[in-house]
Amino acid sequence: MSRVALFVTGGIAAYKACEVMRDLQKAGHEVRVAMTQDATRFVGEPTFEALTHHPVLTDLYGQPDDPIPHISLSEWADVALVCPATANVMAKMAAGIADDAVSSTLLACDCPVLAAPAMNVRMWRNPATQANVATLQARGIGFVMPGSGLLACGDVGEGKLATVEEIVGATLGALARPGHARDLEGRVVLVNAGPTREAIDPVRFIANASTGKMGYAIAAEAVARGAQVRLVSGPVSLDAPGGVELVPVVSAAQMLDACLVAFEGADAAICTAAVADYTPRQAFDHKMKKSVERLDVIELVETADILAALSERKGRRVVVGFAAETNDLISYAQAKLERKGCDLIVANDVSRSDSTFGADTSRIAFVDAGGVEQLDTLPLPQVAERIVDRLVALLGERA
Ligand code: CTP
Repeated sequence: MSRVALFVTGGIAAYKACEVMRDLQKAGHEVRVAMTQDATRFVGEPTFEALTHHPVLTDLYGQPDDPIPHISLSEWADVALVCPATANVMAKMAAGIADDAVSSTLLACDCPVLAAPAMNVRMWRNPATQANVATLQARGIGFVMPGSGLLACGDVGEGKLATVEEIVGATLGALARPGHARDLEGRVVLVNAGPTREAIDPVRFIANASTGKMGYAIAAEAVARGAQVRLVSGPVSLDAPGGVELVPVVSAAQMLDACLVAFEGADAAICTAAVADYTPRQAFDHKMKKSVERLDVIELVETADILAALSERKGRRVVVGFAAETNDLISYAQAKLERKGCDLIVANDVSRSDSTFGADTSRIAFVDAGGVEQLDTLPLPQVAERIVDRLVALLGERA
């Protein structure tokens, strides 16, 4: 049984927090609740007290049994979930403000923290809110992003609290699975993921079919097993897993720079990204007009190889690469292991529909100096688990 601290802040979506709480309890977890004063105007404390069999924390003072309740709750929690998260609480979290029971406890939490925002579309889109979300994401706060639809205020647009299923799923994902080893505790792992975009002009680019699913699944698995994860990601339409430090990038050159920085002080790197092999020699600074200028030829230059660059710097650290191939999988993977100087290549045959870009399953083979291990087709979370098992073994060999 894991322990979830649920922080309810003042928005109309606060009533949904009751359902989220019930589903977390049904999944076998203990939940304790802290609420802002505004939240208590939407849902009464007795509702949560009756459901959790525990007092709700709304005030830092006047609790004789627990003189420092924000510290006790932050130490108790295995995961913190802010649901719904108002623009105000996210602004406080971004600024490090601790002026009530909720913000003080959140500032003291060193467990994974997830936020499920809900608010009016204009409040959500406000650059201040978006900047706060980006700041929090960069610090490893996980987001269950709001959906679009009819909002309580009557407006239509983004800002609707994610579904109960999405929020509960993300929370369970952020919790270490019961009984599973936290065998990456104290380790720092760099994961790169997704495609890169190489600009032709301000509106056109060269990219590829990578969705980032494999890298994000590995990042989630490594966090669940206790690692501090730095996820350097090209443009994808996935939410970063809770607890992961997200570094968004666009081009291969940006990904290289971000990976070199993130690899400093890291114990391992897993390079799942489908980095563009070529980039236009020059990007036009204006949108090309076909009516006035021809674009028959784009001159390309090769990009730097990030995997090779990290392998060159790794010393006794562990670097894992990927090889997506449509033919001669194993021999190409063996050649890549040699050429790039990494410790392990995860090879997958992207000509198969159960292993291609965007699929929710993959059929991989591990290729290293010791030989080849072919796995069956598995769902991505299980593939991620097997890859992290291999990483743990490699780190153990270096100890
Ligand atoms: N990779 C990288 N930087 C690049 C190209 C590839 O870091 N510029 C990494 C990928 O993240 C992956 C591995 O190299 O881990 C293999 O990528 P892949 O595209 O299959 O290999 P290439 O080096 O592009 O070789 P080829 O085109 O011959 O398949």
